[in-house]
This record gives sequence, C-alpha cells and structure tokens, in this order.
Amino acid sequence: MTPNLVLIGFMGCGKSSVGRRLSGLTGHRFVDTDELIVQAEGRSIPEIFAQQGEEYFREAETRALESTLEMQGVILSTGGGLILRAQNRELLPRIGIVAWLDAKPEILFERASRSGKRPLLQTENPWQTFTALLDSRREIYTATADFRVDSTDLSHDEVAQSLLDEALKHTARFDH
Ligand code: S3P
Repeated sequence: MTPNLVLIGFMGCGKSSVGRRLSGLTGHRFVDTDELIVQAEGRSIPEIFAQQGEEYFREAETRALESTLEMQGVILSTGGGLILRAQNRELLPRIGIVAWLDAKPEILFERASRSGKRPLLQTENPWQTFTALLDSRREIYTATADFRVDSTDLSHDEVAQSLLDEALKHTARFDH
C-alpha cells in the first residue's frame, strides 16, 4: 500500500480540488478535515466560528485529525490553520507524507475570497488580514512539510501529478 498523502497549505491553495484529482490518480480515498468537522458538528464552518469561536473550532479540528490516525490509503486535505497547533504538527508525519501546496499570495487571495465562506476573512480589510495571516504561517508550513509544490502557473492536473512525483521520493519513511 502506498502511504497516505497529507495536503497542508493556506486558504485558496487548492487542497480540495487537487486532493480529489490525486484521489482519482492513486485510488486513495479523499478525506477533508473541514468536512469531518462539519459532519461531527452538524453545522457549517462559518456557523461554528460565529456560534462558538475559533478556539472551539481548533479543538474540533484536532479531534478530526486524531480520527484519521488509523486511516490507510487516503489523501487527507487539511484546513489552512491546522498546522498552528504543535499537537497537530506532531500528528501529521505519522499520518502520511506531508505536502505543502503553495501559490502566489494574489492567486491564493482571489481563490479564497471567491466563496465568501472563510470566517477569518470577514474583516474590514480582508487583503490585509489575509497577508498578515499568510506571513505568520509561512515558516510553519515550511517546517511541517516534507516538500512544497508551487501551483501558481500550473493546472490542477499538473499540480496533482507534480505532488505525486514528489511524494514518491519521500516514501522511504514508510517502508517497514
Ligand atoms: C482556516 C481555513 C479553512 C477552515 C477555517 C479556518 C484557516 O480551511 O479550516 O475557515 O485558519 O486558515 P481552507 O484552508 O480549506 O480554506
């Protein structure tokens, strides 16, 4: 069995779209921590943020991540802020090869703003909020990932292929 692949990266980097393509390429099941949270909570992410705040959401996010620990044969897409907790960062390499999906800030912002559903961007100056958050997280993505793929000039299919090629170079950690 090829190892799981975990996708980390900022809002709008394409984790879900690319993750679904990777699922098609590998036969691995696509799993998304945000979707696990929505299922467990029975309400949307904006509702969770509005009703109980970010800290509650982060607790739910850790529980969702823990629930994936025994999964095999999955492509796991994670919420952009999941890497903020040290506890989560320790779990990620146990789950699979960790890939950071990145792109130019302007592209990330354009994609992330499209749905209007990101609670953290509901501020007076979303671009300023966005760049501040991105700057504060960049080093954490770098430190957490086995490798990074820049999707700025690539189609979703090209990104998926590139992730797969890179991931194959990192399978040694999972050869027992
Ligand atoms: C968040 C990113 C979102 C979602 C929540 C918080 C973040 O996921 O988990 O709104 O802190 O960056 P996406 O990265 O899939 O947008």
